[in-house]
Amino acid sequence: MLPSEYPIKQVRATYPALSDGHAYLDGAAGTQVPRSVIEAIATAYRSGLGNVGGAFPASHRSDAIVAACRAAVADLVGGRPGGVILGPNMTTLTYRLARAIAGPGDEVVVSRLDHDANVRPWTQTGATVRWAEVDPVTGELPVEQYADLVNERTRVVAVTAASNIIGTRPDVPAIAEIAHAAGALVYVDGVHATPHGPVDMRALGADFYATSAYKWSGPHIGAVIADPALLETLRPDKLAPSSDTVPERFETGTSPFADLDGVTAAVDHLAAMVPGTGNRRERLLNSMAAAEAYEQALFAVLVEGLETMPHVTTYGKPARRTATVYFNVAGRTPHQVAEHLAKLGVNVWHGHNYAWELTGAMGIRDAGGAVRAGLVHYNDRSDVDRLLDGVARLE
Ligand SMILES: Cc1ncc(COP(=O)(O)O)c(C=O)c1O
Repeated sequence: MLPSEYPIKQVRATYPALSDGHAYLDGAAGTQVPRSVIEAIATAYRSGLGNVGGAFPASHRSDAIVAACRAAVADLVGGRPGGVILGPNMTTLTYRLARAIAGPGDEVVVSRLDHDANVRPWTQTGATVRWAEVDPVTGELPVEQYADLVNERTRVVAVTAASNIIGTRPDVPAIAEIAHAAGALVYVDGVHATPHGPVDMRALGADFYATSAYKWSGPHIGAVIADPALLETLRPDKLAPSSDTVPERFETGTSPFADLDGVTAAVDHLAAMVPGTGNRRERLLNSMAAAEAYEQALFAVLVEGLETMPHVTTYGKPARRTATVYFNVAGRTPHQVAEHLAKLGVNVWHGHNYAWELTGAMGIRDAGGAVRAGLVHYNDRSDVDRLLDGVARLE
């Protein structure tokens, strides 16, 4: 599908929140949800829910919701339902997994491109830490360095599928190849990448793929997907009476079942953004590819507009990136720029956005980072024009 054929009006019409007139360019921090997700959550509550594993219908409904949610998330990333671990968010799940995977005596490789949620859980395991460096000007994560970083003691290589501030999509398959050759596991942070195009965790070489539904039109739920056979080898901290099966033994406490139904609805929504045929996985690949092409065409307008303004500095120029731009305006703090844009009805984020190491490497963290604007599948040309117009007024 050509970017010009992407049904943006229809997609936008499914999001009630967009009718408030704001330009929602804050999707990288969390997206709005379509009506179908809101309805799914409300319907689940209306129909009566019980805790899982009981003998009565409300409990059976929750069992079915959990199973459907695992199947949906597996379809989204190309994983297996039996390897989908669900939890409150990516950070919590990554802490839990990291503790089960690595410890003193191991080595872990983390990158300065990553959101801190794929850094600190690993550096705090007690393992020896090795750092993959970013080129602070281009924003690229050179692959070659991994050959020197990985050795037979490396337990895990943690790397992002996309930077949450400058959008860099590093060459994860090449990094994974180096890691696997040394016998290491690969933990991919797909939180920022997932909403921006089709995902195939096997093609990425991800042993673990982490994602968060609230970045792709769903509720605040995180997931980590892995091969069930790999999960069988890990023993996370858990309560004595809680399930010891996979993936349940990685899930602590009681899940928000209605929200899990919302996650399934969000995956179905993504699969249906453009007309398509085939099973849900096939429709997802088709729909997300169309959304990506649309986003990238719009992003070119956004970046070009910012780059031609003499009072604007943009950060990073990676060859492959999501539709996410990070910039500063001369004479204004990032907070001032975000406040100015907010008055014009344009929502953007300011600060380090938890890209702690990257903003440090770029030398802007202590000065407040920069402003982040990102496009997702529901943004349109008027959102971009309003941002450009608002920034132009700051000259
Ligand atoms: C790239 C990336 N990784 C991890 C996270 C943390 O996700 P969560 O809020 O689900 O813990 C975020 C959140 O912004 C992110 O953008």
